[in-house]
Amino acid sequence: MDSFEWNKIIGAVLGTLLFVVAVKIVSEMIFEVPPPAKPGYVVQGVPAAATGGPAQPTEEPLPDFGTVLAKADTAKGQQVSQRCEQCHDLSKGGPDKIGPNLWGVVGRPRASRASFSYSSAMSASHAPWTFESLFRYLKSPQAVVPGTKMSFSGLPSAQDRIDLIAWLRTQSDAPVPIPPPKPAAAPAGAKPAVPAKPAPTKPG
Ligand code: HEC
Repeated sequence: MDSFEWNKIIGAVLGTLLFVVAVKIVSEMIFEVPPPAKPGYVVQGVPAAATGGPAQPTEEPLPDFGTVLAKADTAKGQQVSQRCEQCHDLSKGGPDKIGPNLWGVVGRPRASRASFSYSSAMSASHAPWTFESLFRYLKSPQAVVPGTKMSFSGLPSAQDRIDLIAWLRTQSDAPVPIPPPKPAAAPAGAKPAVPAKPAPTKPG
């Protein structure tokens, strides 16, 4: 091979490299994806800054149950409750299973089913189950009642818990009334209430 052929080969190689680099630059210009200003989804209850490692259970802001229960999706809540039925019977007069029967559990004193053998952790309190305590407990049973024998990892989604609690509330002889919505100042983290549009008024 004479030097002229070498020149052609080197030229071809350099040309190809140049082409590849050019394509890369152009495609990056075309397909450049700017990082979103806000994450596409927010995992409820997980602090935005949490990176790696087991997240410390942070106190989740409590929703205003007067607001969220009134518009909760009880049908969705019933669906979520299927995850409980593996261990709990939800029906009136139903039996205890691995866990106690849950009919009327909202407002029922904790660990109050005489027929069920509760853990000492659960029977340490007989404070009635409230919307708030159920909301916390169902997120992470072991964190809220350390030592409970309810081996259920919890429902991370706040909305799932709200829908479920709304459904459980109806599964009772005397459903605990939904409190009136708190006026004004929405709790931090709550969705801003959409103000009702004033009816269009025609001048004249
Ligand atoms: C793997 C089985 C299991 C699953 C799944 C489960 N639980 Fe339980 N649950 C238990 C057991 C066992 C207890 C009794 C806990 C104790 O005594 O420490 C319990 C206790 C409870 C209590 C306290 C009842 C009382 O009388 O004080 C509530 C409320 C409750 N569960 C709600 C739920 C809900 C709602 C779900 C579904 C999201 C659920 N559980 C899923 C096993 C389960």
